Amino acid sequence: MKHALPRIGALALENPLILAPMAGITHQPFRLLCRRLGAGLVCSEMVSANGLAHAIGRSTRLMAVVPAERPVSIQIFGSDPKGMAMAAAAAQASGADVVDINFGCSVKKVLKGGAGAALMGDPVRAEAVIRAVRGAVSISVAGNGDVILPGDALAMMERTGCDFVMIGRAARRAPWLFSQTLDVLAGREPVEPLLADRKAIMLECLDALGSFFGEAAASLMMKSHLPVLSWGLPESRPFREAFVRVRSLEEARESVEEFFRFLKAREASGEPPA
Ligand SMILES: Cc1cc2nc3c(=O)[nH]c(=O)nc-3n(C[C@H](O)[C@H](O)[C@H](O)COP(=O)(O)O)c2cc1C
Repeated sequence: MKHALPRIGALALENPLILAPMAGITHQPFRLLCRRLGAGLVCSEMVSANGLAHAIGRSTRLMAVVPAERPVSIQIFGSDPKGMAMAAAAAQASGADVVDINFGCSVKKVLKGGAGAALMGDPVRAEAVIRAVRGAVSISVAGNGDVILPGDALAMMERTGCDFVMIGRAARRAPWLFSQTLDVLAGREPVEPLLADRKAIMLECLDALGSFFGEAAASLMMKSHLPVLSWGLPESRPFREAFVRVRSLEEARESVEEFFRFLKAREASGEPPA
């Protein structure tokens, strides 16, 4: 890579690619997957400072960090400087390397509490929140938005001079975009994942959801995670349609196995990739 290791304050990242925070998506299992596939830093879903203060299980679990996913950034939201400082301390205690204050969320419930995007309309409070959360900062800039292809991050860095690039929606359906982008940054041709890689990633995602959230919750969450991972594969539409009827993790595994048996046979018969 032609740039020095990118830094956020004292933290040196392996590379400038960041998994953007996405509520409902960037939970621990998905962060682990994206780290394995090359993200230099992964961001959590947003965690409510209020929820933490009241020890609400969901907020505490959103903040759980394991060593394998680090470095990790935890995003907190709230409007009370004291509560936000406590949330930041809790994030650090739980293993966060970076604390990110949400200033952009426009969900009604968050706005009503004066947090998220509402903070942008209340600069005095916003400043108090930032000051309470941290002292002096060295500012790094992350570019973000519409990074979809392996060459997009490099183009954004060259165009804007940003230090980091965050990848959001595209990472959801193609988490290997991180390793492909690293290929481009290193001057290599981006490597397309093979069928076997795509299958392994889908099964890894299922297993990780199951072990983190448990069978019942994971059986629901897989409906939003697995189908998008089949994006771009031939005949993925019938797979997605059939996946709607899948009820358990075991059935989901079987449905993935069957889909890839079909794709392998199709590939062996010399059909062109879709
Ligand atoms: C489903 C979804 C949930 C998101 N949740 C958050 C969030 O909790 N906090 C935040 O700062 N940004 C959130 N974002 C914004 C993303 O972090 C990112 O900035 C945005 O999607 C643009 O990047 P992209 O074009 O690579 O997707 C969310 C975006 C999506 C699509």
